[in-house]
Order: sequence, then structure tokens, then C-alpha cells
Amino acid sequence: MLRESDVVSMLLRRKPAYSLAQEFYGDPGIHQVDLENIWYKEWLFAIPSCEIPKAGDYVVYEVGVYSVVIVRGTDGQIRAFHNACRHRGSVLCKTKKGRNPKLVCPYHQWTYDLDGRLLWARDMGPEFDPSRHGLKKVHCRNNSGMVYVCLADEAPDFEAFAAETARYLAPHDLENSKIAFESTIVENGNWKLVWENNRECYHCAGNHPDLCRTFPEDPRAIGNSGDGGLASELDKHVARCEAAGAPSAYRIAPDGEWRFVRTPLLDGAESYTLDTKVAVTKPNSSIPFRDAGALLKFRYPGTWNHFLSDHSILFRVTPISPTETEVCTKWLVHKDAVEGVDYDLNRLTEVWVHTNDEDREVVENNQKGILTPAYEPGPYSEIHEGGLIQFSDWYSGHLIRTITGARTPASTAMAAE
Ligand code: FES
Ligand SMILES: [Fe+2]
Repeated sequence: MLRESDVVSMLLRRKPAYSLAQEFYGDPGIHQVDLENIWYKEWLFAIPSCEIPKAGDYVVYEVGVYSVVIVRGTDGQIRAFHNACRHRGSVLCKTKKGRNPKLVCPYHQWTYDLDGRLLWARDMGPEFDPSRHGLKKVHCRNNSGMVYVCLADEAPDFEAFAAETARYLAPHDLENSKIAFESTIVENGNWKLVWENNRECYHCAGNHPDLCRTFPEDPRAIGNSGDGGLASELDKHVARCEAAGAPSAYRIAPDGEWRFVRTPLLDGAESYTLDTKVAVTKPNSSIPFRDAGALLKFRYPGTWNHFLSDHSILFRVTPISPTETEVCTKWLVHKDAVEGVDYDLNRLTEVWVHTNDEDREVVENNQKGILTPAYEPGPYSEIHEGGLIQFSDWYSGHLIRTITGARTPASTAMAAE
């Protein structure tokens, strides 16, 4: 089984702007290295805060060997705890979501407050100290309506990203939204293949007939070109949106971990619908026009998002095994929008339901081909696949830095600025 030191030397030897060696897409040892150095260390998007609007609402989020309960307290605060009882370790919340006034262990009914304090444990004797048996906390931030957790003992800095998110998402009222629909699919592909597929639209024309009615394939229109820049024709769109109070200019983290850009849809299209018009007549943004395009955001390793003038779509990526990845998609609309009146659910969701399924198929085909003995890393298109160069540079640089403790990437391929 491959270990961390093997991974570092393989990454140092990799050919920049080429897909990764076969082992990165299926070897159990590398998958473990990914979990321990990325998934168990980084901030991960878990749920939109509007999914748990009331005190006692909770959602269980599982990644790798961890299970986390995210719960809203009576003070309105959202907190996260390890989903394991402090008595003998039973899972505390058995269902994926629900509402409880207290968190009660199903085994011997130890009872915890929504803030994690142990309130009641039967017959534990006079020496027992409940204050030493509260639930174990997981780092948790409600970032402009998106709840992120971090499983590391010491969480990496979140402030720069939080500040940018607050700025870009200000016109998109996620706190006053609701989930109109959610879908969860499992793609039989390594999580990095899911990302690689997401970071290019080279495949769009050949695979996404519905999406291509509104989403531009042009890499310079969506921040996917080699230099990450936008076509100058987009300046007008950015200026128009910014003048209306909607931050839009291309912005990427110094280490490439996150990015924001607001890009116009094709030919004045308003939203991701087959007729190109808005899907929701009661919008969840304050942008005063409908053709604001899509604010495209990603944060590695767990989420990419599209914020439109009328609704928002949040995608969450979770690795399940070396060759299986869950993709959970949530469509958010204004909390007062009424299905059948302000939006038609099928019209709202059909483009991305189809697109997700088409993406699942291409990712699965990619995975199958990579696992054949004939696979060797192939070249990325500098024109269309700048986003993949950016992703694989981020991945390599991040792993090398984390494993070796180096302050700067030792990789020949640095994260794109
Ligand atoms: S394991 Fe939870 S109360 Fe016993
Ligand atoms: Fe796609």
C-alpha cells in the first residue's frame, strides 16, 4: 500500500499540466493519504444553514470515518459535535436529519443539551462529573448561510475566505432561503475525477445538451482558461453587476483553494432553465435585474456553487471509497416562494438533474478507462482545461506542503494565481 512519502515523491515527479498517475485515482493507500491530509484537515461545506432553521434541528454529515451532528441551539447558534456518545460511544443521532429538544443517546439515554453539555446520566454515582463528559466539539462556522466544519484539532485559517464569501454572497439571501429540492447521487469515480470534470467545460458541448442552452462553454467566460482570466467582453457584465451591489470580479485564493467569479449566461439567459428565463419569480437575491448570470464559487475539496438572480445551487462532494464519490445537490429558493405559484419544481431542477447524471456517466467512464493497464497521464488542454491545471496544482501543492511541513510548494507546478 502506498504511503505519504511515496505520494510526495510521485507528486514531485509528476508532469505538470498532465492528468495524475493511475494510483491517484484508485489506490487505497493514496485515498487514505487524501482523507488524512485533506478531508480531515480542511474546512468542509456541510449544509446550508436554512436546512436547520429552528432550535433542535439537526443534520448528520459523514465523511470518511467521521460522523458529525450539526445542530441549532436555543440561542440560534449552529454548532457541530462528533456523533458519538461520551458514555460508551454509541451513535447519538441515528437518522440523517430531524428535530429534538435535547440530544438523547438511544443506548442508555444520556441526555445532552443542544450546546453539547451533558445534562443527565442515570445512576453514575456521586463521583461522576457531567461537565467532563460533554459532546466533543467539531470546528463549525456559519459562513453567510453555508455551514462549514473542520475535523482537525487545529483548524486552518478561515478568515480571508469568510470575508470574501460575506462580500460576494451579500446579495444572495441564503439565510432567508429554503431547500426546494435536493438530490444525492453516487458517482463510481475518485473524488478528484469529479472535480476534474467540474473544472472544465471541454466536455459540455458533447454531453450537456440542456445546460448548453444557458451555460457558456467558452473557458474565458467562466474562469477556466489557462491564465484563469476572463475575456474582456465580460468587463461590462462585471461592471454592471458591481454597480448594482453584486461583487462579481474574478478572485482566487493565493493558494488556489477557492475562487469567485460572476459570469453572464449565454445570450442574455436568466437562469438554468430550458426556456432560459428565471425559474423562480420570487427571487432569493437582491440583484435588481434577472440576467445577472451565475456567481461561480468553489472551495476545495468539498463544494462548488452557482448563485443566480433567482435561486442558488449548492453542490457537495464527499469521498466514499477510492472509486466512489457522493455528490449532493441542493436547490435553494426564497423561503416564502411557493411551489406551483412562484416556481415549478421540475422547471427549476431539470437542467442540473440531467447535467449531474450526464456528469456521473462521463466520470464513471473516465474512472473505468484509467483503471485499465493502458492508461498513462494525458495532457490537459491549456485552452479549455486551465481549471484542471489549477486543481491538480492545488492538490499536489497542498499534499506536499501538508505532508512535508514545507511553507511553500515544493512542486514544480505552483498553484495558479
Ligand atoms: S452509549 Fe450513550 S448512553 Fe450509553
Ligand atoms: Fe459536466
